Amino acid sequence: MTKTAPERMQETDVIELLIAQHGMIRNLFDEVEQAPPGQRGDAFTRLVRLLAVHETAEEEIVHPYARAKLDGGAGVVEDRLEEEHEAKKLLQEMDQEGPDAPGFMDKLLTLRAAVEAHARAEERYEFAKIVQHTTEAERRALGAGVKAAEAMAPTHPHPGTESATKNILVGTPVAMMDRVRDVIRQAMGKKD
Ligand SMILES: [Fe+2]
Ligand SMILES: [Fe+2]
Repeated sequence: MTKTAPERMQETDVIELLIAQHGMIRNLFDEVEQAPPGQRGDAFTRLVRLLAVHETAEEEIVHPYARAKLDGGAGVVEDRLEEEHEAKKLLQEMDQEGPDAPGFMDKLLTLRAAVEAHARAEERYEFAKIVQHTTEAERRALGAGVKAAEAMAPTHPHPGTESATKNILVGTPVAMMDRVRDVIRQAMGKKD
């Protein structure tokens, strides 16, 4: 990873990026909830993509850092991974059934509650400690992978970029996460 001229980069503090994504995820839950029945598919697809990007970035970048560097980090990360696993199972189920399936909205509310409780726990028990134990330069370096992943999941449909994104992030949530993982590892210089 290049360490040159970080002042020329846009803001890429890993924790600021992830907290901003927590906000984008809340907004996308709103969009899915507010879409008329029969028209939830587009917003739901963007939500699935962003969750795939976000949780994979945390698993690849932030959790390993917390596990290695924070006092009690292993326990904190185990708790977060368990929450992420539960949310992923539900997401996978909802993706299979589709946004017009009966019971979709109930599941969406359950997923939202789980994802938001998980995000609060991350911010409180993991991110706050990372900020205390890292320099800005370290957080910026860790942010590069999050930026690369985020580029794969526009939260609004943009003419022109949407088709490219579609080609990158398709299929099941698990397939999306695999693709995101590859992109993050390349961005972080971990190719093997
Ligand atoms: Fe997470
Ligand atoms: Fe998160």
